[in-house]
Amino acid sequence: MSEFMQFEIKKRDAAGRIGRLKTRHGTVTTPTLLPVINPNKLIIPPKEMKRLFGTEMVITNSYIIKKHDDLRSRALSEGVHKLIDFDGPIMTDSGTFQSYKYGDIDVDPLEIVTFQRDIDVDIGTILDVFGTPDQTEDEAKRAVNTTVERAKKSVLVKGHMLIACPVQGSVYPRLRETCAKKLGELDADFHPIGGVVPIMEQQRYATLTRIILASKKGLPPNRPVHLFGAGHPLVFPLAVALGCDIFDSSAYIKYALEDRMIHPWGTSHLQDLEELPCSCPICSKYTISELKKVEKKERIRLLSEHNLHISFGEIRTIRNAIAQGVLWEHVEQKASMNPALQDALKELEKPSNNHWLEQFEPMVKNRALFYTGHHTTYRPEITRMYHRLFNWYKPSSDIIVLLPESVKPYHLTYETVISDIQSVCPQAEIVVDSMMGPVPIVIDEMYPFAQSIFPQCIDKDTSHMRSKRLNRFTRGKTKLQWAGNNTLKELERYMNSEPVVSMDEKRVRAVATMQFGPDAAEVLFDGPLHIVKSKNTGKIRNVYCNSDHIVSMRAGDGLFTLKKSGGKKLHKHFSSPRFRVIVSADAAPFVEEGKSVFSKFICDADNDLRPLDECIVVDEKDRFLAVGRCLLNRMEMISFPSGQAVKIREHEKESK
Ligand code: GUN
Ligand code: ZN
Repeated sequence: MSEFMQFEIKKRDAAGRIGRLKTRHGTVTTPTLLPVINPNKLIIPPKEMKRLFGTEMVITNSYIIKKHDDLRSRALSEGVHKLIDFDGPIMTDSGTFQSYKYGDIDVDPLEIVTFQRDIDVDIGTILDVFGTPDQTEDEAKRAVNTTVERAKKSVLVKGHMLIACPVQGSVYPRLRETCAKKLGELDADFHPIGGVVPIMEQQRYATLTRIILASKKGLPPNRPVHLFGAGHPLVFPLAVALGCDIFDSSAYIKYALEDRMIHPWGTSHLQDLEELPCSCPICSKYTISELKKVEKKERIRLLSEHNLHISFGEIRTIRNAIAQGVLWEHVEQKASMNPALQDALKELEKPSNNHWLEQFEPMVKNRALFYTGHHTTYRPEITRMYHRLFNWYKPSSDIIVLLPESVKPYHLTYETVISDIQSVCPQAEIVVDSMMGPVPIVIDEMYPFAQSIFPQCIDKDTSHMRSKRLNRFTRGKTKLQWAGNNTLKELERYMNSEPVVSMDEKRVRAVATMQFGPDAAEVLFDGPLHIVKSKNTGKIRNVYCNSDHIVSMRAGDGLFTLKKSGGKKLHKHFSSPRFRVIVSADAAPFVEEGKSVFSKFICDADNDLRPLDECIVVDEKDRFLAVGRCLLNRMEMISFPSGQAVKIREHEKESK
């Protein structure tokens, strides 16, 4: 990656991120939209776009500039920024799309790259080969090979320009992934996903999803990803949730030329509208009948403005959703506006895709997870916890008492029931049959079990998943549906003389298991425990073992924060790289004194760490330095050359 390029994650949700992308002409906040500028026809000048919509970067076409003598010579003498009168970052495309649309064009792959460099473009694009959706796999492979060959030569001549190398591969996920991997190994800076315009025009969003996922799987996570030609805000939320950072829109002008208006839910023809269903400055100023009567040229400008207001509005909505941890809710809401998007969500339920998404999903959010439809039960936050429940969690016995879904937190609603059950059979595993699936009472405060809102009446898919999860959890065990005194009588039969563990201790051990793994509780809590609870809420606050402060429990999400003593126990008992973020020798003294860990100093990390997971920080000799909280997963820690990766909580040395 170029020394001029810097991309950092600032906030995140799903596999989406709010990023900061540095270029020579300023820093851009992503996700963002680059309006397409026709250098021949500045209908809304880019400078005005900045004022009207907060546009930070635009995209124009170097092939068009090069083809027109006047534009070419002005661009070469004054630079592209003067040419279109914009002092922010400018990206250019290369003519690939023109060649796809109009057949062979007269451009040399290297000449167009050096031309972009010479007119001082911030991000230039190689002349990739557009892979159409109707290609055979062999044809697509040839197009990918040519694209990769051109990319290899192009990166050598990019100079100080950032270079975009598009991922091609038609509709074939394996080809997309290989293409992405090969491009990822090059000194490229930016990766559009190409060849998707016809797929989006046909609203084949399931195919689009497979393409985005395959491309993302192959690319290093630190490269900004651009969905080439995605100009309709309907697809922005899904694409962002899958990890796309940049969109470009010529749709705003194309639609305006045909009297069409972009809405958050679709598109409509001005003539078909009874009222203006929008309150942007244009739609607030005009009535529908006035707008219909405006003279054509002016109407194009007005509709373009409306279209850009809606598109940038969607970008702001998405950034907000990321910051608040509700991006999936937003994606699902969008999907309810268009059946084709429902098919896309279905793709995400496939285990391999779900698995990939889970790696990027933060461990906790500061808002409750909302049920927004049948897709909700497949959300990575939920599938992750069920994976852990089935594979890590150890029920306290084979006798399971099932309580019906109720008000959360369950252990307060069922306080008397729990104490009645405990008095006759303290070993019984008490589980709530929640809308998501089984929730053992001892982990009912963990995210997202307590922090989720489901309706009382769920759809068939969710109901099916709920019973599937319950059956898996109770397989081979004795399952008693709670029925008051009758259940208590039956439970008496199962009473045994095993030592009784307090509910609080069970909770502490169960949370540690679900958070750190099946063998962590024994290590963290290897002696007599002292559990301190909040006087106000009765919730567990701090856990001491042999008078060492091991962990604190966060009231909001019910997970532990790791204290230094806890971290040291994990460090002592588990070998590297488990729980670890390993930093280089030059960073170690700073971390030891409590400074944040920046990703450029990270040598390696535990592959099972997730964003917002607790971790221990060590040096290359596995010397313990600190405990902290990850902002990135391992893949990201290794690939990002800058930005914060771990926030330190407690460190080994007092700072001087
Ligand atoms: N514009 C829309 N799609 C593409 C593509 O695949 N490649 C390039 N270079 N530009 C595009
Ligand atoms: Zn409007």
